[in-house]
Amino acid sequence: MNVKEEIDALTQELKLYQDKYYKEGVSLISDGEYDRLTDRLIELEAAHPELAHPDSPTKRVGSDLTNDFPEVRHTIPVLSLDKAYSEEEVREFFDKSIAKEGGMLSFAAEEKIDGVSMVLYYEDGLLVRAVTRGNGEVGNDVTANIMTMQSVPLSLPESVTLAVRGEVYISKSDFEKLNAMEPDVQKRAANPRNLAAGTVRRQKSSEAKLVPLRIFCYEGFWADRSQTPPDHLNILAKLKALGFTIDEDFAFFCSTAEEAEKRLSAAGIKGKAYSFSQLDTYIAEMTAARPDLGYEIDGLVFKIDELDVRDRFGYTEHHPRWAIAYKFESPQAEAKLLDVTVQVGRTGRITPVAEITPTKLGGSTIRRATLHNQEYIDELELAIGDTVSISKRGDVIPAVERVTEKNDSGNTTFRLPSNCPCCGSPLKHIGALDYCPNYDCPDQVRGRISFFASSDQMDIETLGPKTVDILYKAGMLDSISDIYRNDFSSAAGLPGFGEKSAALLKAGIEESRTRPFVTVLSSLGIAELGKKNAGILVNGGFDSFDKLLEAAEKGDPSVFASLPGFGDIMAENVINAFRDPHIIAVIDALRDAGLHVSAEMDEKKDEEEQIFSGQVWCATGSFENFNPRSKALAEIEARGGRTVSSVTSKTTHLLAGKGGGSKRAEAERLGVRIVSEDEFMKLLGKEKTAPEDGQLMLF
Ligand code: IVH
Repeated sequence: MNVKEEIDALTQELKLYQDKYYKEGVSLISDGEYDRLTDRLIELEAAHPELAHPDSPTKRVGSDLTNDFPEVRHTIPVLSLDKAYSEEEVREFFDKSIAKEGGMLSFAAEEKIDGVSMVLYYEDGLLVRAVTRGNGEVGNDVTANIMTMQSVPLSLPESVTLAVRGEVYISKSDFEKLNAMEPDVQKRAANPRNLAAGTVRRQKSSEAKLVPLRIFCYEGFWADRSQTPPDHLNILAKLKALGFTIDEDFAFFCSTAEEAEKRLSAAGIKGKAYSFSQLDTYIAEMTAARPDLGYEIDGLVFKIDELDVRDRFGYTEHHPRWAIAYKFESPQAEAKLLDVTVQVGRTGRITPVAEITPTKLGGSTIRRATLHNQEYIDELELAIGDTVSISKRGDVIPAVERVTEKNDSGNTTFRLPSNCPCCGSPLKHIGALDYCPNYDCPDQVRGRISFFASSDQMDIETLGPKTVDILYKAGMLDSISDIYRNDFSSAAGLPGFGEKSAALLKAGIEESRTRPFVTVLSSLGIAELGKKNAGILVNGGFDSFDKLLEAAEKGDPSVFASLPGFGDIMAENVINAFRDPHIIAVIDALRDAGLHVSAEMDEKKDEEEQIFSGQVWCATGSFENFNPRSKALAEIEARGGRTVSSVTSKTTHLLAGKGGGSKRAEAERLGVRIVSEDEFMKLLGKEKTAPEDGQLMLF
C-alpha cells in the first residue's frame, strides 16, 4: 500500500467510526486503537499535506497552532431580525404579510436559539469556511474551531455549493458541568452563550474541541437557485438530509391546523401544526416550556414559508421583511453604544468601557458598562453605533449582553488603541489583556494612590480619587510615599479645596498611620496580593517588610510556593514585587514615616496595658522622643486611647511638645488637660527625666 492508499483507507475507516459513534452511539473499536489510527493519519497528513482529504476526520481533533481569525467577506447578506414584543405584533406581521401578498401564506415558527450566529460555507460539498456574523458583511473566519464540532458535517453527500446559517450553542447542562470544573470563579462564563462565543474564538482548536458545542441550522442559501427547495419546510428537510442538525422543536402555521399538518407531513418534517388563530396558544406553550428546554432560547422566530414570496418581500437594510423575532420578556433593556472609552487601571491594565444611551433598568439609569477586554468585544462583535442589550449581572453590575442590531454606518468591531490613552506608551498584550507598561503613567500613579487610600486598604477617608487628582495635578502628590512625606497645609486654596478640606486631609492621613502591617502590605497594590494573600504571608512568617525583602533577594520561590494556596506563579510574583525598585522605594518611605512595617509593631496594642482607654488625645508641637509625631500617637492608640487632630470639647488630653501655640490655647480655654513630653514618657513607663514639677499627674 502506498502513502496515498494508506491515507485514503485510514480516512474512510476513521470517518466510519466517527459516524457510528456520534450518530448512533456505537463504538466499533477500542479508544486506544482509534487513537492509534488517528495519530497515524495525522502523521501521514503532516508529511504529505497534498494527499490529505479536505474533510479528513483529523480536522475534528483540533490543533495547538494559534488561530488568528482573519476577517472575511460574506457572500450572503447576514442580517438580523425585526423584533416583536407581543403576540399582537406577531399577529400584525401575519396579517400585513398576507394583505401585502394578496393571498394566503404559511409561516414557519422556530425557537430563537441564544447562541453564536454562524455561517457555514460549502463548496462542491466540502466545508470551506465557517464565519461569524460580524457586521453582516464581514465576519471572522473561525473554521478550525468549528471543524472540531461533530454536528458540523465536513463534507456533504452531494457536491453542492451553499451557505448554511445556524446558531452555535452549548446546552444548559454542559454549561453547568464545564463551569463547575473551572476552579477560578473569575474565569467562569456568565451564561451558556458567552461560553459558546468564547469557545468559537479559542486560539487553539484542540481546546475548542473540549467544549461540547452544538449547532442548529435554520437557513440554507444555494449558489445554484435551481437547486433551492421551494419553501422553508423543504429547506429544513433538505438540510437534515444533507447531515445538518435542525431544531425539531418546530411549528407551522396555516389558515387551518389541518392544512399545516398536511404540509408538515408532505415535507417529512416533525413539528406541531397550528392555525393562525392559535398563535396565543403556541406562544403560551413555548413560554411555559422554555425553562425546561435543554438549551437557552430568547424568543421565537416566525418566517414566511414560501421562497418566492420571500423574494418579492425582500430586505430592509437590516432585516428580511419576511420574518420577525418574538422576544420573551426579560429584565434586559436596549441601548445604543455611543462610544467605547478606555480606562487605565493602577496596574496599567486597560479596560474598555461601553458608553451607552442612558437606559433605565431595574430601578436605575445605566450609562456605562465594562467591556472587560478586547476578547469580550470580539465575542460580541461590538461596534460603535450598534444597538445592544443590557442586563444587570447578579442584579448589580451592568453588562452588555449582545448586539441586537448592527449599526448602519458600516462601523466594524471596536479595536482597542495600540497606545495608552493616558500617556501614549505602546501597550503590551499579556494573555487576553492589554497593559500600559509605563509605571509613571499619570492614570496608574493616581490609581495606585487612590487604591492605597481606599476604604478597604489604608482607609484614608479624606483622600478619595477626586482629592488625589487635585493634589496630583498640583504637583503635591506624585506617589504613595508623598502621602506621609508631604505637608498638605498648602493644599488649602487649590481648586475645590479649602482650609477645612486641608485640615481634614491631614487628620485623615495622621489617623491612618497606625494601620496594622497586613493592611500596609495589601495596600501596596501588588498583583494578587490582596487582603487574603497578605494575611497568608503574614501568618506564614513573613510578618515584616524586612523578611519579605530578604526572602525576595535570596530568590528561592519554594519558601513562598509552600504557603497555603500560593504555588509557583504566586511565589514568582511575590519575589518580583519585592525586588521591584518602585516597591522598595515606597516601603522605605513608609518605614521613614513610622508606619507599621512589621506585625510586631501592631502587637504593641495588645501587649500594652490599656491605660488610655476611653480618652481622646490630641498632640501639638514637636517631640524629642517621638519623631515624627505620629509615633507618639501610635503609643496612645496602642494603650487604647483615641487620637484626634484638633482640640475640641471632646478632647480629654493635649500632648504638648515644643511650640504648638493655638492648640495649647484652645486646650487651656476648654480646660483640656495638658501633658508634657516628660510626663507622657513616665506614663508610658519610659521614664527618662524627672517630671518637671516633681508631681505625678493624676488622670
Ligand atoms: S433567522 C435572514 N432563525 O437570531 C435570516 N435566526 O436577531 C435571519 N437566531 O442573527 C435569521 N435562532 O443569530 C433565525 N431559528 C432562527 C434563529 C435565529 C437564533 C439568531 C441569529 C440571528 C439573530 C437575529
